[in-house]
Amino acid sequence: MIGRLNHVAIAVQDVEAAAKIYQETLGATVSEKVAQPDHGVWTIFVELPNTKIELLEPLGDNSPIAGFLKNNPKGGMHHLCYEVEDIEAACAQMRAQGATITGTGEPRIGAHGKPVVFLHPKDFCGTLIELEQV
Ligand code: CO
Repeated sequence: MIGRLNHVAIAVQDVEAAAKIYQETLGATVSEKVAQPDHGVWTIFVELPNTKIELLEPLGDNSPIAGFLKNNPKGGMHHLCYEVEDIEAACAQMRAQGATITGTGEPRIGAHGKPVVFLHPKDFCGTLIELEQV
């Protein structure tokens, strides 16, 4: 079912400072800083030859990554995003396998304008998983 690794998301206190590390220390190409008010985050994407790194900074009072950063004040890996061809079929398979889809359990439009769901870390080796229909 799962396809390519679409991105690895890293939660940080300051996406511009984090992007500078990727750009200057590691020599990567980085995107502009973009507000994602529907998702409660600022994002900067780091473009790599085979995938992307999604840098996330809290935006607003109810950011979904605020709790994570409280527990990981230096930042840390927040989720992995895998591509799927059909998000509804993927959700059906996850339910059949007993995996927990977070939130309402229904796909919503993610940070790239495509349908996504998040799978609970308890079912996936302690890692929050995002599935994105591409
Ligand atoms: Co993501």
